[in-house]
Amino acid sequence: MSKKEKLSVEPYKGVRDFFPEDQALLTYLFETYRRVANRYGYVEYHASILEPSELYKSKGAENEEMVNEQTYSFTDRGGREVTLRPEMTPTVARLVAARRRDLGFPLRLFSIPNVFRYERPQRGRLREHWQLNVDLFGSPSLSADAEIISVAHALMKAFGAEEKDFQIRIGSRTFLNSLTGKLALDAENGKKLINLLDRRGKMSGAEFAAGLKDLGVPEDTFVNIHAPGDAREVINLLNNLGITNAVFDPSIVRGFDYYTGLVFEVFDTHPDNNRALFGGGRYENLTTLFDDEAVSGVGFGMGDVTMKDFLEVRGLLPTYESPITVYLAVASEEVSPQALAIAEELRGEGVNAAVDFGDKKLADQIKAAAKHSIPYLIVVGEDEIAAGQFTVRDLKTGTEELLDREALPSFFTSK
Ligand code: HAM
Repeated sequence: MSKKEKLSVEPYKGVRDFFPEDQALLTYLFETYRRVANRYGYVEYHASILEPSELYKSKGAENEEMVNEQTYSFTDRGGREVTLRPEMTPTVARLVAARRRDLGFPLRLFSIPNVFRYERPQRGRLREHWQLNVDLFGSPSLSADAEIISVAHALMKAFGAEEKDFQIRIGSRTFLNSLTGKLALDAENGKKLINLLDRRGKMSGAEFAAGLKDLGVPEDTFVNIHAPGDAREVINLLNNLGITNAVFDPSIVRGFDYYTGLVFEVFDTHPDNNRALFGGGRYENLTTLFDDEAVSGVGFGMGDVTMKDFLEVRGLLPTYESPITVYLAVASEEVSPQALAIAEELRGEGVNAAVDFGDKKLADQIKAAAKHSIPYLIVVGEDEIAAGQFTVRDLKTGTEELLDREALPSFFTSK
């Protein structure tokens, strides 16, 4: 092959490769997700990334747009229309409908799916992301809405954020529906109003006013508006839990048609990353796609991309540490079997150890260990084996300690 014919090492547009350091960050996010979700009584479920395309087609115009323009869909070899899931909510509704009679309610579920959307890649938006989904089914109570928001708040705290770093903005579909009723907007214009409010953050005041005028909505409709009863009650419940950064914001509507009650979005307050981080809301009827009986749901989805940006601008990203504790370099290929024996002794005591094969220079072996961010190094040579003593080098500080072979495992396990 000539140079030109080589394949690109770049991943497919808008998706990512996860080298060990990237994967370690993802693992940190997932561990935090799981810890907090479990603490609030939520248990993990999972499902395949493949769904029949019809799951996304039956929810009205907005989602048709999503299906036609934003999903990765294909026809399988058996002629079935298949979609890589763009979100988890229809899937979890399917799971709940499938076992409705056996599941206990309120049902608290979470999952960390990979989801795919054909979008124009930009900061905070890719074609693939990992999305924590936390959902509660079977309780219409506003206490359930408050609990879901408190889980979102707890996650932010678990990542090291303080209340001033983010704001929880709560909107209400119920309120909007009564407003469109009062304004006598037909279904189409009601949808247009929701769409306009959804884009409000991205437009100037004049553009927003012009949009309202087009729909015949008085310009002051969203000025100095009081929180409606449902939002007020949830904000009070949150205040009782010590959560003070939640506010009512009538322009929070969220893009999906299935939301029916309160909706919310968590915003980053940092000037360099002033955007919605994640969001969710109440959906009362999604299970009726499968079944006549509605099981009310409330939940949110939190993406890893926006979360990483949030942690980055605030210096909250953890520093990478290799999961491998010690690297055994060998002075010559002949001592390789002994190095392997020591590694096995360490592994037997639960110490993560990697061994060099001794087929390159010692200096290069040490460099490789440092490149892998492995914190400790032991050089295994004839002299060390004869003496039964080994020098453990801390590769970060350069300090060294001479230890008997028998003392090696406890040196590492006590770290
Ligand atoms: P969503 O707002 O479309 O809601 O997505 C939730 C979150 O996923 C976003 O706020 C963002 O953090 C992340 N996200 C979405 N699209 C992208 C993208 N293209 N690139 C990177 N991150 C993205 C839902 O998906 C609802 N199903 C959430 C939900 C669960 N509602 C109730 N339960």
